Amino acid sequence: MITYKKFLVYILTPFLFLFVFAGCSAKSSSGKQVNDIHSQKNRECYTPGLGDMMSTVQHHHTKLWFAGINKNWELAEFEVNELQETFDSISEYHGDEFDVGKLIPEIIKPRLKETANAIGKKDVVAFKEQYRELSSGCNSCHETTEHEFIKIKAPTQPAFTDQEYGVEVK
Ligand code: HEC
Repeated sequence: MITYKKFLVYILTPFLFLFVFAGCSAKSSSGKQVNDIHSQKNRECYTPGLGDMMSTVQHHHTKLWFAGINKNWELAEFEVNELQETFDSISEYHGDEFDVGKLIPEIIKPRLKETANAIGKKDVVAFKEQYRELSSGCNSCHETTEHEFIKIKAPTQPAFTDQEYGVEVK
């Protein structure tokens, strides 16, 4: 004969387990949710600093030179576009720092446009001339923003030796 007390134990025990495990899994899943929110937030909030973005500018600036002098106009056009985009991001995310949001359209944008024109004409002499103008634009902004100790010039050797700069001769 099942007593009323035993009956209660049989009936209630599974519910008790359910309650405990449900509680645990709810806790761990909400813990995971919190982690997800954190990593998502970090991803959304992470913006490279102005100096980091300038390092990106430097990469494209140096590659642009070897693309241009090797008459790899497709790569040169790509690099000049990357420079435009990076300066746009700098304006967007760091416009207030050292007033760069105002200085970029004044100093560097017109020079980038002229460089792009020389590339469009596939003219090495004009390219070299505009590259010098572009680099002097970099320096003029570094002076204006009291970073005159950062001096940019045309590179003498490729910094990235794992990339072909010339056009493949078939
Ligand atoms: C609108 C102004 C402005 C222009 C234009 C500009 N820069 Fe800068 N650049 C700065 C400022 C300001 C810093 C200092 C950033 C900091 O304080 O972290 C800087 C820093 C740098 C650095 C130092 C990063 C490092 O860690 O060594 C390099 C390299 C650099 N710029 C390259 C360039 C090149 C190349 C160009 C041109 C294609 C250029 N910059 C154009 C304002 C400018």
